[in-house]
Amino acid sequence: MNKPINIFEYESLAPKYLSQMALDYYASGAWDEVTLRDNRTAYEKYKLRPRMLVDVSQRNLSTKILGQLMKMPILIAPMAFQCLAHPEGELATARVAADHGITMVLSTMSTKSLEDVALATNVPQSLWFQLYVHRDRFLTRTLVERAKAAGYQALCLTVDAPVLGVRERDRRNQFTLPSGLELANLTSMANLEIPETEEESGLFAYVANQFDPALTWQDLEWLQSLTSLPVIVKGILRGDDAVRAVEHGAKGIIVSNHGGRQLDGAIATIDALPEVVAAVGNKVDVLMDGGIRRGTDILKALALGAKAVLIGRPVLWALAVNGETGVHHLLELLRNELDVAMALSGCAKVENINPSLVR
Ligand code: GLV
Repeated sequence: MNKPINIFEYESLAPKYLSQMALDYYASGAWDEVTLRDNRTAYEKYKLRPRMLVDVSQRNLSTKILGQLMKMPILIAPMAFQCLAHPEGELATARVAADHGITMVLSTMSTKSLEDVALATNVPQSLWFQLYVHRDRFLTRTLVERAKAAGYQALCLTVDAPVLGVRERDRRNQFTLPSGLELANLTSMANLEIPETEEESGLFAYVANQFDPALTWQDLEWLQSLTSLPVIVKGILRGDDAVRAVEHGAKGIIVSNHGGRQLDGAIATIDALPEVVAAVGNKVDVLMDGGIRRGTDILKALALGAKAVLIGRPVLWALAVNGETGVHHLLELLRNELDVAMALSGCAKVENINPSLVR
């Protein structure tokens, strides 16, 4: 196998290493997958306006997110069930994030426990914990306490999943976890499992039974009252919602449509970003995810006001193809692409990337 030279090559190799059920689960979006596609194609509308004859001999990709230094403006997005891609799963991903000096956001639905992931890195400062609020508030509270005790630096509250989006490939496959994999944060604590179902995805059924669809802005205050960890709200697509999130205590916003996996037809994240930045960008850090595949995508997102981006599916493709080494390499590829894109547009530092760079 020739070593992949970009993310797309990892994506095209990954199916060889994944079961059909895992591949479909990772790759799919909701319903007609319009938002999934739009998340990618929307970047093409934005054109770069590079600056010439700037000294870019010394480049620095580091930045601060919520006051925390990161070696580049890239985080690893929360993604469930990473042991479907590789036996080391979330342990491998977390180690790579720590090595690269960036943050990994661990999913509530991980296949390694949040404590094991923290131990694997030796750098729990590089971890945030993504929270799904379960109907069982005691369980939810315990997850928050466990994350704090294990050294996680922030909570990332996902707000776009009162129910799960309908991913028809998962429905067709009656998606469930293969034997040997479990909800590592939940099974031992509360005996929760992804059920086997006859006519739908087991994850859809799990979410319908367990996640709290009555969640409102007041619950954000409740969550904030439980913990000293900053809460970042993930899944915002409108300026007015971003304002509400900040009014209710959010310390950061992630513009996200859940990788096109929730409401199909929802706006592409790069298109939603400017409105959110205009609404709250001077108060909190605004991050974004969705469709980032090139360094130039990151440059556009930063120019439109994101402080950093989160990378999702590509990490799973690299994990499937070559485990920890693959994810390491993937992040190097992205770092190099961003570095070259910054040099070619006259930006020696992340702070030099501003709205004038894009049209
Ligand atoms: C889980 O969060 C998923 O989107 O599948």
